[in-house]
Amino acid sequence: MSADTGPAGGPAPAAQPAGPVSAADQVANWHHEAVEAIDNWAWIRTLNDQLTAVLGPWRERNQDNPVVELMHGGRWLGHPLHPALSDLPIGLWTGALLLDVAGGDPPPGRTVDPATLFSAAGIAAAVATAATGVVDWTVSDDQDRRLGLFHGVLNTAALGLQGLSLAARLTGRRRPAQGLGAASLAVTGAAAYFGGHLVFAKAVMVNRVAGADGPRRWVKVLEEAELPDDVPTGVLADGRQILLYKHDGTLYALDNLCSHAAGLLSRGTVEGLTVTCPLHGSQYCLADGSVRRGPSHQPQPVIRTRARNGWIEVRGSQPAPRRRADGRK
Ligand code: FES
Repeated sequence: MSADTGPAGGPAPAAQPAGPVSAADQVANWHHEAVEAIDNWAWIRTLNDQLTAVLGPWRERNQDNPVVELMHGGRWLGHPLHPALSDLPIGLWTGALLLDVAGGDPPPGRTVDPATLFSAAGIAAAVATAATGVVDWTVSDDQDRRLGLFHGVLNTAALGLQGLSLAARLTGRRRPAQGLGAASLAVTGAAAYFGGHLVFAKAVMVNRVAGADGPRRWVKVLEEAELPDDVPTGVLADGRQILLYKHDGTLYALDNLCSHAAGLLSRGTVEGLTVTCPLHGSQYCLADGSVRRGPSHQPQPVIRTRARNGWIEVRGSQPAPRRRADGRK
């Protein structure tokens, strides 16, 4: 049914007193504490507001630009581009460090040794990585956005250190160059850690509906008469949020949570059988769920529908497993 009835009635269980937190638990939770602390830094919040005021309107003006969509990765790549590019500066700068450790001085009269080339190529790759990161950052929200900004600040510092290292290499000051290169790589590692947190802990730019497959049987969600024409309508079916849309007597249904960052498509707009997400403007075809515009890079799951006895019923893509005749699974 469409109603979300919540937990069953009855008295709520008594709250258990929190036990003492061991030192080992405190150490293991350092990353939560660090993220909370960063999120509360006043300068991060101020900088976040200032950049949002500039870059937010810029992205809205350019959201139909295919270059901007390609910088997200978008429907053409099927993955975000930024994490893939980020491997390049990390790898190239690590190569420069290893060459510094293993190598001797460059041949006389030659300042552009392999470590210098690795450093320079890493800087070029870092600029491209930063550009895609900024574009992804404009379609993030709340704490993700502030942590993403901190990630970007660290990477900018690492890029600056690597630039100074390159300048020192090109002017023949190898020892300072090596120290600056090592410092740059250390800051890059810290930035990469928080980038990893955004992906693996916060699911930023991860397909939010990858695991959605229910309901596994036909479920009544709405009386047919209650669904108006041409109005995106959200319903619940066995806990899954579903978008219904009726046009010219045809019923369309998609997962209602946008695959980009779980915006509710039923709060968006529909034009010509294309629904636009209200959060960051991804567009999907109502008929087949395909992406018409990023930042989303994955299609919306299509939900099967049917009308029975005056009710709209829906079912997800995975049928419930058939029971064996003897009742065993
Ligand atoms: S949640 Fe970002 S475009 Fe839908």
